[in-house]
Amino acid sequence: MDLKTTYLGLELPHPFVVGASPIAARLDRVRLAEDAGAAAIVMNSLFEEQIIHHEEGLQKHVLSHEDSFAEATSYFPSADEFDLGPDEYLERIREIKQAVDIPVIASLNGTNLGTWTEYAKYMEEAGADALELNLYYQPRSAEESSEQVEGNFVEIVEKVRQSVKLPLAVKLSPFFSSLPNFIKRIEDKGANAAVIFNRFYQPDIDIENLEAVPSLKLSDSSELLLRLRWLAILSGRTQLDLAVTGGVHTAEDAIKAVMAGADCIQLVSTLLRHGLPQLTKLRNEMAQWMEEKEYDSLEQMKGSMSYQHAPNPEAIERANYLRILQSWDVEA
Ligand SMILES: Cc1cc2nc3c(=O)[nH]c(=O)nc-3n(C[C@H](O)[C@H](O)[C@H](O)COP(=O)(O)O)c2cc1C
Repeated sequence: MDLKTTYLGLELPHPFVVGASPIAARLDRVRLAEDAGAAAIVMNSLFEEQIIHHEEGLQKHVLSHEDSFAEATSYFPSADEFDLGPDEYLERIREIKQAVDIPVIASLNGTNLGTWTEYAKYMEEAGADALELNLYYQPRSAEESSEQVEGNFVEIVEKVRQSVKLPLAVKLSPFFSSLPNFIKRIEDKGANAAVIFNRFYQPDIDIENLEAVPSLKLSDSSELLLRLRWLAILSGRTQLDLAVTGGVHTAEDAIKAVMAGADCIQLVSTLLRHGLPQLTKLRNEMAQWMEEKEYDSLEQMKGSMSYQHAPNPEAIERANYLRILQSWDVEA
């Protein structure tokens, strides 16, 4: 079965990629990922907080400092746990490039424009094949407009584009008033792919001890539905490559994502839960299913369930919405 796909200008033998996670934090795991047939690997992000820690020589736990990066808080390792300051991160890129042949996508999560552009350059020099910009910002002031927040994001993409030649993916949250418009804006500034979507590790509240409790739960397949909808809306309407991240656990999930329009499937939770051979299993099961259904290639299946291929998507969407609402009643 021809599962070939193109993502970020990289010719991949199939769409299954190891998503940003601690899997890239150890060379033995990276080798296992290659052995399992991963088409590429995204590194865990270098967070600006790590750069600051490094520069200030601090070793404090991430949860103890003011953060605007809610997603980062729960999986951002303390400097002493992972010992990945910016220099070590760049060294890790070089080591991974030497250790394996699969493409390596570095990941950056900054706060200041200067950091984004400076470290993007370093990552390019260290040999990364592409760069994933992990955009996340949580506005808290009523004075800050959505236009300003989005404008900052667009400027980050523009300036990073100007400073590196690397293919650029932008990992996004689902929280946009008009995602298609934002996607167009980053496409105009030179982004090459959108990664749909960042997943948030939302702190809970301990009501007895009056504490915020960080929680890191792995995903399940239900989280895929939001991604499917947006992939289906964007597919064919943007020149950006589309990667899915979040909720792909089975071959069926992966097939749905491709049908909705994904060029690349990033796996994390399922690999952390079942180990790296899970990637091989999903790839084989997808190929087998496609053979049974007489597909010739992944390309043939890609986007086949996108909104562009539905005759009247708005009508379908409205009609379904109404039907679902009307199907509920209160137990007597
Ligand atoms: C332990 C752990 C560490 C992660 N580290 C990062 C990271 O450094 N950068 C990033 O962009 N995403 C990170 N993520 C998010 C994943 O890349 C992915 O987007 C998310 O887990 C959803 O995919 P999944 O359902 O396959 O897990 C991490 C996730 C987990 C579970």
